[in-house]
Amino acid sequence: MPKTPKATPPKKTAAKSAARNTDSGPARVAPVAADDHAARKMAETQAMVASMPYNENKAEEHGFDNGVDPPAGQAVEAPSRLVGASTLSEENSSDKVGTAALDGLNATTDSLDRVRVDASGRALTTNQGVAIADNQNSLKYGVRGPVLLEDFILREKITHFDHERIPERIVHARGSGAHGFFECYEPLTRYTRAAPFQAAGKRTPVFVRFSTVQGERGSKDTARDVRGFAVKFYTDEGNWDLVGNNIPVFFIQDAMKFPDLVHAVKPEPHHQMPQAASAHDTFWDFVSLMPESTHMLMWVMSDRAIPRSFATMQGFGVHSFRLVNEQGESVFCKFHWTPVAGTHSLVWDEAVKISGADPDFHRRDLWERIEAGNHPEYELGLQIFTEEQAEQFSFDILDATKIIPEELVPLTPVGRMVLNRNPDNFFAETEQVAFCTAQVIPGIDFSNDPLLAGRIHSYADTQISRLGGPNFHELPINAPLVQVHNNQRDGMHRQAIHRGRVSYEPNSLAGGCPFQAGAAQGFVTVPARIRAEEEQGKVRAKPEKFADHYTQARLFYESQTPVEQGHIANAFRFELSKVTVPAIRERMVASLRNASEELAKKVADGLGMDPMPQPLPRALADPAPPEVAKSPALSLLSRPGDGSIKGRKVALLVAPGVEAEAIERLQAALAQRGAVGRLVGPRIGPVRTAAGDTLDADASLENEPGFLFDGLVLPDGDEAVAALSQDGHTAEFIRDQFRHCKTILAMGASRLLLAHAGVPVAMDKSLAQGGTGLIVVEPGAEESGAAAFLEALARHRHFGREMDPPLA
Ligand code: HEM
Repeated sequence: MPKTPKATPPKKTAAKSAARNTDSGPARVAPVAADDHAARKMAETQAMVASMPYNENKAEEHGFDNGVDPPAGQAVEAPSRLVGASTLSEENSSDKVGTAALDGLNATTDSLDRVRVDASGRALTTNQGVAIADNQNSLKYGVRGPVLLEDFILREKITHFDHERIPERIVHARGSGAHGFFECYEPLTRYTRAAPFQAAGKRTPVFVRFSTVQGERGSKDTARDVRGFAVKFYTDEGNWDLVGNNIPVFFIQDAMKFPDLVHAVKPEPHHQMPQAASAHDTFWDFVSLMPESTHMLMWVMSDRAIPRSFATMQGFGVHSFRLVNEQGESVFCKFHWTPVAGTHSLVWDEAVKISGADPDFHRRDLWERIEAGNHPEYELGLQIFTEEQAEQFSFDILDATKIIPEELVPLTPVGRMVLNRNPDNFFAETEQVAFCTAQVIPGIDFSNDPLLAGRIHSYADTQISRLGGPNFHELPINAPLVQVHNNQRDGMHRQAIHRGRVSYEPNSLAGGCPFQAGAAQGFVTVPARIRAEEEQGKVRAKPEKFADHYTQARLFYESQTPVEQGHIANAFRFELSKVTVPAIRERMVASLRNASEELAKKVADGLGMDPMPQPLPRALADPAPPEVAKSPALSLLSRPGDGSIKGRKVALLVAPGVEAEAIERLQAALAQRGAVGRLVGPRIGPVRTAAGDTLDADASLENEPGFLFDGLVLPDGDEAVAALSQDGHTAEFIRDQFRHCKTILAMGASRLLLAHAGVPVAMDKSLAQGGTGLIVVEPGAEESGAAAFLEALARHRHFGREMDPPLA
């Protein structure tokens, strides 16, 4: 059991924790250590803001005389560069983070620095660089007269504002991004000449965007949905985009069906409801008529679709791709990202509540992790297989509704990706980034997956309208690090200024430049001749094995733990209960019977459907027997991660009269392990402790409800317990923590709070062996309680105490 450390002075920890949050703060800013950038930024920002206690110029905005002689704006010098920075990485330079771009390790920073704007110490100007004397008033004829059309400053400002929004993405509109790097473990030259895999330790800068699919740009993060996991590698042979999801299969097999799928899942067109949810008629109508979606539905109804964090979900390239080596030899490959922190998800009740209290839950988590130095990290693993192997599989590797079980083709770990820098500006980077599956580099090639083929067209096409023309590749976030030379010219918003008069090839007026690179340097498509004696005429049809719609859906369901199976059944029950047309529900249950009678029965029972409908007719009566009947790797619980608690959030409840010592020690222990312990009181601000000292609550029971935290600590102290029990939020706070199977530590008198919330304290004894995650300790045993708490927190959740419907 880890010992609770005593080294960190507790008071400093409180300031440290408070400075690492983006959603609420303490009543006063505590003194901080100089090397703590987050706390220093907070303290210096507070000092700078406090030095401008009111708007000194306000009085001078009035009257004619002041109007013709406006004063210079009030400005103070920032205590340091950190105060005006978007992210801590500006100060925090190291080989992992920062603008220093050490040895080209984070070269994207360098290229983006070119366009980064720093207004410190500068006056306002128009877009033409003309200094603006007065930014408070429009130009009028007399102080009470009409505004004049000649006010070019007003018109420029308003016109730009009027056009501040661009169309949002058709799908994946809601997203969050981060910079980082990919590091190769060993040369992979045997299989591929792709630049990122050529040398051990080679680092390639990346930009990653995580997203939901269904919702609009401002929709909630915790919707039940697939998450996009798109990675742009800025390689030294051009940009390579691996545009994946957190689920390795997809709903459909052919791009021809993509608009239908998206129309079905988006809010219904007549009333534009529901937002960011698949629980409605049109979605279930469509998928129940498309049995190839059954495998994907299993994943989407599992907890995969409600991740705890972007840092705790897997990513997949989904399709079969090809790796191509220097000799032009190719193998097939599937890409897998595995989070070092393990795969952890929310539970549904929690996801629903979070969407109300903090719709930015995942965005905030990603931002805070990176600012705090808990950099999300993922290992890249490849499933490499040959054409000959592929021909033997019971499924078709061109079918995006199928996985290749890891037991059949194991993962080869080839490198790691670390996300270590937040964007400076959301719009310029995360919104304007343009991913496209067509963007591959020499060494990576496509398979004939018909879904992939549609994607290769779709992304660049849609980006032309989203980003206002064909030159979006010149936006800094999209531009490759290598030089771009071709004869494409003009178009909206062109930035490149081409020398000379030649924009064609072949030419002699520019000495033949730019010339075609040839096979040695350039991208060459794998010929992939079709050897089989299959029909090769033009045809609109699917290969035979695509018709096996249920074998892998069953494999997924049967590979889950009983807890996960329960969650899948509950999710089907919930979603189908929201369907208003019973025939759609019945059709779906009829389809599920082909995948799992047990699951179909549970869902039917939950919907009051008796008798069950007949199973749907199958497209393929006699599918090939699968290679594996169970794949333990498909369970979320099979990847607990490195056992650390980095990035977890813990609520330490406080109120006047709190026994503070144990709370402060635990907060320090959490900070030392990269977790965040927040002092949550009935209100923010100073809290008198039992010893007559003060603690500073930086969150309140109202502004940070219980379901936002991964764990809960209830303090000792009769007076504090009495105060907390007076506040109705406390019982809800505890009940949610209990219901969502999170780790709870109750010290001394706070046992009463558990009873008050209806939490069965006796459970502690009955389930103690397996670990209930409910730790109740007497006064004097706080240290061992804290150690047990930290250990239990690392297990993330304690499903042994889960009930359906919930107990409390
Ligand atoms: C395996 C199936 C698919 C996966 C894994 C996938 C993944 C993604 C991801 C991650 C994004 C967000 C990119 C970003 O962060 O900017 C995205 C956007 C998009 N996807 Fe897909 N997608 C799939 C299928 C398709 C298909 C079949 C089509 C069309 C034929 C399509 C069209 C689009 C479009 C139009 C966007 C918006 C792009 C933009 O505006 O920048 N996707 N997709």
